[in-house]
Amino acid sequence: MKARIVTLPGDGVGPEVTAAAVAVLQSVATHFGHDFDFEEYLIGGAAIDATGEPLPAETLAVCQAADAVLLGAVGGPKWSDPNAPVRPEQGLLALRAGLGVYANLRSLKPHPALAALSPLKDDKLRDVDVLFVRELTGGAYFGAKTKTADAATDECRYTVAEIERVARRAFELARMRRRHVTSVDKANVLETSRLWRRTVTRIAADFSDVTLEHQLVDSMAMLLLTRPDAYDVVVTENLFGDILTDEAAALAGSLGLLPSASLGDRVPSSGPSGHLLPLTGEGNSARPAAASLRMGLYEPIHGSAPDIAGKRTANPVGAILSAALLLRHSLQLEVEAQAVEAAVDEVLQHGPYSRDLGGDAGTDTVRDAVLAALDHHTIASDAFFTGMRACG
Ligand code: NAD
Ligand code: IPM
Ligand code: MN
Repeated sequence: MKARIVTLPGDGVGPEVTAAAVAVLQSVATHFGHDFDFEEYLIGGAAIDATGEPLPAETLAVCQAADAVLLGAVGGPKWSDPNAPVRPEQGLLALRAGLGVYANLRSLKPHPALAALSPLKDDKLRDVDVLFVRELTGGAYFGAKTKTADAATDECRYTVAEIERVARRAFELARMRRRHVTSVDKANVLETSRLWRRTVTRIAADFSDVTLEHQLVDSMAMLLLTRPDAYDVVVTENLFGDILTDEAAALAGSLGLLPSASLGDRVPSSGPSGHLLPLTGEGNSARPAAASLRMGLYEPIHGSAPDIAGKRTANPVGAILSAALLLRHSLQLEVEAQAVEAAVDEVLQHGPYSRDLGGDAGTDTVRDAVLAALDHHTIASDAFFTGMRACG
């Protein structure tokens, strides 16, 4: 398959972890006979420094035309003055809005070998497998803002249509898992949350095979610590999802571990770069290929980690697993996605471990270990392709 992938390394550790993820995608291309073309563009603080804008028009245009976008992180102290006229984070928000990627998937499945790093005891972590579906292009992040010398406001606004589409996505994903959705809001206080709850409840009627429960966000923050194994798919609005998923990352052992996929609607197309897609779909269920292509933005959930930027000690696992999600959701390459995930799994089982995981391996050492594990995991497929070629 041919695919055009735009990379947006951004700031701080963003370039370090993105380079590791690109190396893994290049290895996947070699092993599985694909042709991935990588083009790097500016975003965030790096883009402000070069152009004055956190999302140059050129960057948005190439991302909109690409098959998938892989992002590192944006932001840092250099651009964090509260009085700064423009901020790196605005670039990321404008990109999410400009790509229409309203559903942000962040999954928490703690690796047993890392249990000692979690603030929770082993018995609480066993069987934890939660998929957060965070609404990504609405709410307080995108509402009108006002600022005077002695007051400021951030409007939190949601429309029924915005809630419906992300709720549907959550129910569809639950159908591929354990068929349970937990919708998180603050309906006891916020009007937007009451609209959220009414709308999610109405959409649930179309998914009678999926159970729905509602939780208030303050209680949910507590429940994630006391019984995280009780949740399957958790759907929530933008700001609550941002906060709960950093909490989830801590349960897994480090913020450096979690990947994310931000998805929009299906794009009617024959496939990336006009090539026909194989018959695989989201998760493991097969479905017609052309119906499955989605615009996707892939990024680790962590930020630019200014405290360790430039030291080449950042954990690249969140970025590498984001590349696996890119293979799965945008390129429909399920086998390749699973090969990357298996390689990461093996490295998390045996090391080498980066500093956040209690080891002393640098970014490149972890990357090389994932590449070596990938070589190992794909020997069988190489043999398969060689055999196919030999058969003519
Ligand atoms: P952060 O996620 O950058 O860092 C929080 C802590 O986690 C730090 O101690 C950091 O060293 C550690 N950490 C993060 N990623 C790591 C990795 N891959 N390996 C090892 N340790 C890692 O959050 P912050 O410090 O609150 O924010 C810093 C900047 O990043 C801010 O400007 C913020 O707006 C931005 N940010 C960007 C994104 C994004 O681009 N998607 C996400 C979150 C924060
Ligand atoms: C994330 C980040 C972003 C967010 C910031 C950098 C705008 O924290 O991706 O989780 O709040 O969405
Ligand atoms: Mn965040």
